[in-house]
Amino acid sequence: MTRLRTAILISGRGSNMDALIAASKDPSFPADIALVLSNRPDAPGLAKAKAAGVATAAVDHKIYAGREEFERSLQIALETYRIEFICLAGFMRLFTPWFIKQWRGRMLNIHPALLPAYRGLDTHERALADGVKIHGATVHFVVPEMDEGPIVAQVAVPVLDDDTPETLAARVLAQEHVVYPMALRLVASGALRIEGNRVLGALAPHETALIVPDAAAAPRRIS
Ligand code: GRF
Repeated sequence: MTRLRTAILISGRGSNMDALIAASKDPSFPADIALVLSNRPDAPGLAKAKAAGVATAAVDHKIYAGREEFERSLQIALETYRIEFICLAGFMRLFTPWFIKQWRGRMLNIHPALLPAYRGLDTHERALADGVKIHGATVHFVVPEMDEGPIVAQVAVPVLDDDTPETLAARVLAQEHVVYPMALRLVASGALRIEGNRVLGALAPHETALIVPDAAAAPRRIS
């Protein structure tokens, strides 16, 4: 089996990165994490990736005159490692249309909300302020508009009476670590197709729609 050479782009702690690397250790996983790339040389996730035996690189956005110059360096790093696919995992830079065009249909992001609700930042605070009862996370293809693009998979969790933004974030994050590898597995295996704004072709609803009804439930493991 040829595995899809995948880069994970991070800016911070990289817990989703950890989950993707862990999933890729299974030889039957259809993506190989060939590079972890950060725009912050001090991102804690870089050390974790190295410890896991994954190649790392940093392209410090601060030293570039503009976004395009920064992205051209990113692109060179990605080409150097013969990267075919990108997973954004807490990568805190917006891309220009040029970069997104290079990777259209070949770049996923995870967002900590049930899109199209709560695009942007502070999703957990805003969900609590609105009094919603269900919250979650979304894995989607990246398009030029921020936090838009065809949705691959979503996970839903309950919002509890005594939740704070931190407890809610932790409940969602535990499920991000389940849904992101699931989504990458499906995409990298070639099972899915994009039709307009929809991603179709999953064999069963539980492959793309995770519902975790019990707040105490252990995260569902991918096989
Ligand atoms: C996650 O909440 C993810 O949904 C968002 O950024 C955060 C990254 O966390 N895009 P981590 O670095 O993966 O721990």
